[in-house]
Amino acid sequence: MTVTQLGVVGGGLMGSGIAEVAARRGIDVVVVEATDDAAKAALGRIERSIARGLRSSKLSEAEAEAALGRISVTSDLEALGDRDAVIEAVIEDEATKLAVFAKLDHVVTRADALLASNTSSIPIMKLAMATQRPEYVIGIHFFNPVPVMPLVELVPSLLTSEATQERAHAFAADQLGKHVIKAKDRAGFIVNALLIPYILSAVRMLESGFATAEDIDTGMVDGCAHPMGPLALADLIGLDTTMAVAESLYEEFKEPLFAPPPLLSRMCEAGLLGRKSGRGFYRYDEPSAPKGG
Ligand code: 3HC
Repeated sequence: MTVTQLGVVGGGLMGSGIAEVAARRGIDVVVVEATDDAAKAALGRIERSIARGLRSSKLSEAEAEAALGRISVTSDLEALGDRDAVIEAVIEDEATKLAVFAKLDHVVTRADALLASNTSSIPIMKLAMATQRPEYVIGIHFFNPVPVMPLVELVPSLLTSEATQERAHAFAADQLGKHVIKAKDRAGFIVNALLIPYILSAVRMLESGFATAEDIDTGMVDGCAHPMGPLALADLIGLDTTMAVAESLYEEFKEPLFAPPPLLSRMCEAGLLGRKSGRGFYRYDEPSAPKGG
């Protein structure tokens, strides 16, 4: 059973990327944001990303127009009533996500709809238990930038049915063309359980005065062929999201390697959230270029 009517809750970096990828693959998408202004901003993000795809000849004018024609944005969650799959991609905050799942349970009328979360770290079981239909709830975790990164982590909870797992796999792999890996329902799944301690180590290295941000990042780019260094990557992910994922991991495992370093907390408190706020470990005049501390 393919997904033809997708809902995405949250039109930020991840939600807008998911909507774009699905629309480019022929799926009708409704993106729900908290306010009309936020919904407009989400559409702007999608339009800019599709324009980027046009510039780099990844899609034709006709394909871009068709993809945009398949996307609508709204601030009304009720618009998701007829969807056969909904992906939640709101901020990485457990209470917020629980509230979304409880509402989706009432709003989505199709009893067999997939209810997925793009959470980076929150156990799927907790989100599933906010609904009366945990067998249909699953983690479908994308990576930023969604149109570029080929990976999806599929995370079934203890109560996700086999049929839901198969449908979610087919959706991510066959319909969206992503590489799918499967993880057990533990905070951080596979990728963030490995990535976050690495990023936090880089923040501690900077915090201790051991090396500059530029040298830490250059070390990993030129020494290990990573596409970007850990601090630039934290800026791309968003320092608030990095912090939230670290907190979920720390809460689950109580391992010091997952504990957010004070510098990361202070930067979040200061609103220095990385690319999206114009300043994190680097300053950004425009979205792609780091300009130093
Ligand atoms: N939307 C669409 N396309 C984009 C894009 C975006 N936001 N950002 C980059 N691209 C495309 C560009 O158009 C370009 O395409 P082309 O080669 O066909 O012209 C290609 O990607 C490369 O982009 P650039 O030349 O502008 O820049 P770079 O070569 O420096 O690549 C990058 C940018 C793709 C972000 C690369 O640095 C990279 O892969 N970085 C690592 C990203 C990563 O690790 N992501 C995972 C984060 S962890 C996560 O998301 C999990 C979460 O739970 C925390």
